Amino acid sequence: MYAQRVLSGMRPTGSLHLGHYHGVLKNWVRLQNEYPCLFFVADWHALTTQYDDPQGIVGATWEMIIDWLAAGVDPARATLFIQSQVPEHAELHLLLSMMTPLGWLERVPTYKDQQEKLENKDLSTYGFLGYPLLQAADILIYRADKVPVGEDQVPHIEFSREIARRFNHLYGREAGFAEKVAEALTRLGARRARRYEELRTRYQEQGEPSAIERAQALLDEVPALSLADRERLRGHLEGTGKMILVEPAALLTAAARMPGVDGQKMSKSYGNTITLREDAASVTHKLRRMPTDPARIRRNDPGEPGNCPVWPLHQVYSDEACRAWVEQGCRSAGIGCLECKQPVIDAILREQAPMRERAREYIEQPELVREIVAEGNRKARHLARETMRDVRQALGLNFG
Ligand code: TRP
Ligand code: SF4
Repeated sequence: MYAQRVLSGMRPTGSLHLGHYHGVLKNWVRLQNEYPCLFFVADWHALTTQYDDPQGIVGATWEMIIDWLAAGVDPARATLFIQSQVPEHAELHLLLSMMTPLGWLERVPTYKDQQEKLENKDLSTYGFLGYPLLQAADILIYRADKVPVGEDQVPHIEFSREIARRFNHLYGREAGFAEKVAEALTRLGARRARRYEELRTRYQEQGEPSAIERAQALLDEVPALSLADRERLRGHLEGTGKMILVEPAALLTAAARMPGVDGQKMSKSYGNTITLREDAASVTHKLRRMPTDPARIRRNDPGEPGNCPVWPLHQVYSDEACRAWVEQGCRSAGIGCLECKQPVIDAILREQAPMRERAREYIEQPELVREIVAEGNRKARHLARETMRDVRQALGLNFG
């Protein structure tokens, strides 16, 4: 069985907060049980906006990796690594840059958006324009099938698909492609080969996307197929050349909108976060200080949960019985706001307890983290080198 590969990356922002946990990390932890997963720190991507102040990147990287481990990302299941420690990403980025039309980069919506958002910084740089291309290289170098990302990153995945398609189109037409396909087909066995042709026709004539998925599943059933033959047949299916680079798909995480301690979305730039391993006293303090429905000036003024920033936290952390208690107690002034906040405080502390526990070991023995990442870098590099060998060969750049 040729398992689908999952890859995702994060820029090194240092300590992560509960918004990252609910929005991203919980999803990674689930995925690592379902697919071979690669998770990496995009430290070069940090440089695209932080080129004037790169000193914090290394520290932020280690902090963030400890948070991944604390959240339950398991190095026995997933490969954890650092982008800059696999320099093949840079080589692929460079080679892809040769065939990337400037207009494609200028049209990626995050380009202008981010430039406007960070207007106090000069982002009319070559590196910043190339941000999505570096991301495409990150993805394509592992032939990742699925990339778990938030909504904002979808244009980057779409861009990566276009780059893969363009690369395959330009360089996938190896000599003797048709003959090689015919030979690969004999390895499927007569019955499967017939089924494959049927599905291919259905895809190419009627554009039925399920046909291509079924045909790919059929290829996955044949362990005797070499990687090269598998790529050829995938390319043949889609009517391009040999599929050297795999087109990735975004795996959209249902946007868990994690509220911060002011009712807005939790985000570092709003200063309303609770970090993954924040100490209990600070968590308690932040929640007790949180504003509530302004109508509740005195303890016996009734309130309305719909007007209170604590209420969205109950949506995340409380069960139905607790929420009914809040609604009733708030509207009748039967409970006080501190009383109402207590179940949320308790739930957050309960959620953080195992994270704090897991992190302790890594904080006490930082060499454990180094070892995990060294092993991850090695594994990632091995995969990246395989792809680069094929990429160089497709371009005819073998000097060996
Ligand atoms: N651009 C992504 C972000 O800001 C980070 C990233 C870099 C990434 N390379 C990637 C995500 C490859 C997924 C795959 O969140
Ligand atoms: Fe908010 Fe709870 Fe106070 Fe009502 S009782 S205003 S929901 S904190």
